[in-house]
Amino acid sequence: MEGLGRLEYRGYDSAGVALVDDDRVATAKRAGKLTNLREALAENPPADSATAIGHTRWATHGGPTNANAHPHRGGTEGKLALVHNGIIENFHSLRQSLLADGVEFTSETDTEVVAHLVASAYADSGDLTRAMQDVVGTLEGAFTLLAVHADAPNTVVAARRNSPLVVGLGDGENFMGSDVAAFIGHTRKALELGQDQIVTITPDSCDVINFDGTPSEGKAYDVTWDAAAAEKDGYDTFMEKEIHDQPHAVRDTLLGRTDENGQLVLDEMSITEQDLRGISKIVIVACGTAAYAGMVAKYAIERWTRIPVEVELAHEFRYRDPVIDENTLVVSISQSGETADTLMAVRHAKELGARTLSICNTHGSTIPRESDAVLYTHAGPEIAVASTKAFVAQITASYILGLYLAQLRGGSFGRNAAEVLEELHGIPAKMSDLLGNLARVKEIAYFMADTRSVLFLGRHVGFPIAMEGALKLKELAYIHAEGFAAGELKHGPIALIEPGQPVFIVVPSPSAENGLHGKVVSNIQEIRARGARTLVIAEEGDDDVVPFADEVIRIPATSQLLAPLLTVVPLQYFSLQLSSAKGLDVDQPRNLAKSVTVE
Ligand code: F6R
Repeated sequence: MEGLGRLEYRGYDSAGVALVDDDRVATAKRAGKLTNLREALAENPPADSATAIGHTRWATHGGPTNANAHPHRGGTEGKLALVHNGIIENFHSLRQSLLADGVEFTSETDTEVVAHLVASAYADSGDLTRAMQDVVGTLEGAFTLLAVHADAPNTVVAARRNSPLVVGLGDGENFMGSDVAAFIGHTRKALELGQDQIVTITPDSCDVINFDGTPSEGKAYDVTWDAAAAEKDGYDTFMEKEIHDQPHAVRDTLLGRTDENGQLVLDEMSITEQDLRGISKIVIVACGTAAYAGMVAKYAIERWTRIPVEVELAHEFRYRDPVIDENTLVVSISQSGETADTLMAVRHAKELGARTLSICNTHGSTIPRESDAVLYTHAGPEIAVASTKAFVAQITASYILGLYLAQLRGGSFGRNAAEVLEELHGIPAKMSDLLGNLARVKEIAYFMADTRSVLFLGRHVGFPIAMEGALKLKELAYIHAEGFAAGELKHGPIALIEPGQPVFIVVPSPSAENGLHGKVVSNIQEIRARGARTLVIAEEGDDDVVPFADEVIRIPATSQLLAPLLTVVPLQYFSLQLSSAKGLDVDQPRNLAKSVTVE
């Protein structure tokens, strides 16, 4: 239950456990959050058991009900129990043939089909590993499966294809989980599995084979994440803790990036320097907040490298006919490394011959494993569903990539890379100052608890920040919110302005070379004149905004391209506080999941 609690962010519409007890398997399942299952187990405590599996679900086939919650049983006596992440794409036809054989189903899930198939294969061979191996060959789609059987005590068998699974190696006890958070309270030794592998654990053994039965070995590693890092550190919510973790996220992402000669180095690079010099176009693919990080990165990478950068939502990129070739670098950005839309875009890019580079926060996850090169963000585990610290780490990592490419290709910005890097190293301290000065943002949020609509304006790198501010507000406070490019205002959106309409404006630094500061100050005047309530995010010492601002939220002075790392912080905090003011679930907003592993 403790492990499930740590994994609840991965899906939380229902939960269940199965425990092997003598020659039977006992299950308990409840729709809703884990607390419902906890109550059910407290009312009806199961018998002692040393072998169990559990699951927190994010519904794909069949709604979030008790019956559809995992584990699912298989076999006439229900002696097998199985949990599953992912989707079995051919479950319809498999279900039809099972129905024709007289099998009775108790749920609408694709998972139950697999439970019956594995139970039936076990009846033939009497070997759970063999049974799993027999069944995985008939399945299409993405899955992690875990099974226990009453007649195979002390044994859990798992299989994975395109869905995460890690093993925790203990002393006289072993674990499996979708990620290490499930077991870091018990062991720091982990085993990373490859694609299409089956693993069988008992208290004293861990055996890995490939789907074709050939023996294999996973890759053992030590988990460096601290158990406490997965806790809330005294904050009320994970999101608040993670907002305050941001200086660390930036600092850690910058760690160890230069060699003894001051040259930038990346993590896992199997693209040659020569190939990188030949890159003629970069396409960034990502979803949601990660895509906004990509949009910010475009401004910096183009400026520093003069390589054209396109940013595209991964799900749109995947299903059109993008113009890319072996001189295109496709950069995916993903916190989880498991987002199905982004993974499919990366695979598509590879099919088309592009080089692929993954910016990712989760070691050993699928997207970096399938990419030619990886640049890990070091934000640590992000538990709150709404992304915060991963976002600033993604911008930081993209900037490292931009500077690396600039350095590699020479040119003036290559020579200036060290200067930018130094300024980046100064960001965490500025962020900490900013985080210490957000009391007024909280007051504004509580004052606005009944607000129905909020607009966000920004320009240049402030534009994606405006959209990120709007996304945070939608997902956390369920308020209609929209982010616009400030220059677009007069082309339509200004019609939305009516007396009292709150508008956040992200103002560029007065020191910005492109003169955008004055233009955005004019935009503030225009909307103020039409009755908008202006909430202005501006640099310390920027007095030009004061006459037209109902509120000024101050940001430490920094250069234009690095400002997003700071301007986003009050917007994140505002959404967090507005959500709290409305009494909503900050860490697990409705209808969302942390890791979207289906397309
Ligand atoms: C919003 C949010 C999502 C994710 C998106 C991509 O707060 O968290 O928009 O950014 O689902 O997820 P990853 O980065 O895991 O690929």
